[in-house]
Amino acid sequence: MFLWVHYTDMVIALLAVPIAVAAGWVVMRPPASAGTKGSRMRRLLFGLLLGGAALRVVAALLLLPNGWDFAGPRLVFVAPTLAVVATVHAVWVRPMPGSPGGERRAARWPGDYWAAAVAVGAVLVASAAQLAGTGAAALTGVGVLGAAAVWRRTRWSGRSAGRWWRTAAKGALGAAVAAAVLAALSTASQLPASSSMTGGPADIGGGSMAGHRHHGGASVTTLTGTDTDGVPARRFTLTAQPARIRLDSGQQVEAWTFNGVTPGPQLRVRQGDLVEVTLVNRLPGVGVTLHWHGVDVPNAMDGVAGVTQDAVPPGGRFVYRFRAKQVGTYWYHSHEMSSVQVRRGLFGALVVLPANAPEQSGDVDETVLRHTWVDEDGVATLGVTTGVQRRQTPAGRQVRLRLVNTDGNPATFTLTGAPVRVVAIDGTDVHEPGLLKGVRILVGGGARYDLTFTMPDQPVVLRADGPAIVYSPDGNAGPDHAGPAPALLDPARYGTPAATPFGAASHVDRRFTLRVDERLGFYDGRPAVRYTFNNRSFPDVPMLMVSPGDLVEVTYVNRSGQHHPMHLHGHHMLVLNRDGRPTSGSPWWADTLDVGPGETYRVAFRADNPGIWMDHCHNLEHAANGMILHLGYSGITTPFQTGHGTANHPE
Ligand code: C2O
Ligand code: CU
Repeated sequence: MFLWVHYTDMVIALLAVPIAVAAGWVVMRPPASAGTKGSRMRRLLFGLLLGGAALRVVAALLLLPNGWDFAGPRLVFVAPTLAVVATVHAVWVRPMPGSPGGERRAARWPGDYWAAAVAVGAVLVASAAQLAGTGAAALTGVGVLGAAAVWRRTRWSGRSAGRWWRTAAKGALGAAVAAAVLAALSTASQLPASSSMTGGPADIGGGSMAGHRHHGGASVTTLTGTDTDGVPARRFTLTAQPARIRLDSGQQVEAWTFNGVTPGPQLRVRQGDLVEVTLVNRLPGVGVTLHWHGVDVPNAMDGVAGVTQDAVPPGGRFVYRFRAKQVGTYWYHSHEMSSVQVRRGLFGALVVLPANAPEQSGDVDETVLRHTWVDEDGVATLGVTTGVQRRQTPAGRQVRLRLVNTDGNPATFTLTGAPVRVVAIDGTDVHEPGLLKGVRILVGGGARYDLTFTMPDQPVVLRADGPAIVYSPDGNAGPDHAGPAPALLDPARYGTPAATPFGAASHVDRRFTLRVDERLGFYDGRPAVRYTFNNRSFPDVPMLMVSPGDLVEVTYVNRSGQHHPMHLHGHHMLVLNRDGRPTSGSPWWADTLDVGPGETYRVAFRADNPGIWMDHCHNLEHAANGMILHLGYSGITTPFQTGHGTANHPE
């Protein structure tokens, strides 16, 4: 319902632009030339504008159940527009049977001219507000009224303006309107050559923070953790290098890999291990980093180019050290040009097993990474398989599947054939997960879900929107055994409640609200659909400022028609409620929370990991178009810079 209303409204707003411009053109013609044909045209165009405005008001009202954040900002623009257009239409444009021009009365100048100009302007402003934001709306309003004034003056001022002068005025007007529209659309169009995360705007979320900005605090490079000395329990080397990958479909992919394979080597460690990973860059001409997605590492180890380190240049290396404190399923990926590099294959799984997990057991424990290769016409794979994989699994075995979605869009995973439990979300165990007959899960971009089942004596099928894995005792079964589609898992209602260190009733130190909108315009000089936070794009989104120990509440309001998997680095968020309804199942901890179209999520987290942390959409194309902000601790600074003039492009 939300999607339908949202996009219908966007289309009406878009269509209204040429119609309003045409209506303005017709109105501009002087009374003498406005014959029957002119007035018929006028009626048609204003009729369309009236219908459009009425529909947009209905759309706004239909969004009331989603909350005032959805309906309110639309109503502010469309309700007055409807009033103005309806008045002009009723008084001046509406046909009157029997009158010569078909009109109620002859248009009176200049009053009617101005009324019509205001109506046309209101429609354009309301469209601009929806499509390009309030800044663009204000510019459009000024532009239209200015144009109307100039036009009236040159056209009907009584002075006999020459033909040449009128043509020149028309040209100037057109240029002015075009310039205004372009200026409006290109807000935040050009990124600075370099910028520092600690130099921009900040939001302190209603808390206090006297003089937090410049009291020369610690650099992110000093935040290496207090428990990372000593001999590492596990050492790995990951070498970023190009490789030609063969998909099972026969397609070849020119991939960027770690150690020549994609997904990269699976890193398996135990809780409590000191882990050391050496990153070596053998990519041609591009930098690379490693980010430990979902692991709350010390800030200096977070691997964000231009924020916590410089991108590792070709031929260079960087050593990451952190202690694996959280059991669960995580993944790693490059955080330099991540929208390109993750897509091309620079990622892998990181699994932290419990300290006491047996070294050898007959159990099956498998990571299942879903990835879409865009270069190969958007082929979805599990690993490098586009089709069906078969696994021979004896009946009675315990099977754990660790699902990872490396894409930006949500992927639907379906498991049928055995009773199943969803035992972990984003690495955190679900409390008392109930047994389900089968399960369908919407795994958001960057998110992880762990499933367990006991292998029955019949096939079990895992599907991921196309590619599939079939587990069967003889290893030969096909994927056709699926049966009816199981119910969709709702993580907000699954499992049972348990104690949490804080909750909806806790005292909150800082509160932030991030409203996401969908805007047509330019980003960094390119035309782009931008998804903005409170009408801003990176680097203009204020940094969320916190102090150590704060309980921080963030509300994500998704007013756009796309999913936005919101990923906060370095912290885990407890979901408090969705669309105003509190969660009622197991505590739901997320590091990457998929916020669907029309949804509102309220989350809370403890600010217990000082640093400068990205908070961004893990649809990495959205991030590359500005869907990035940062969480900053008071007094922490970074010596690194991002931008065209630097080697660092974290997005
Ligand atoms: Cu998985 Cu900021 O990244
Ligand atoms: Cu997004």
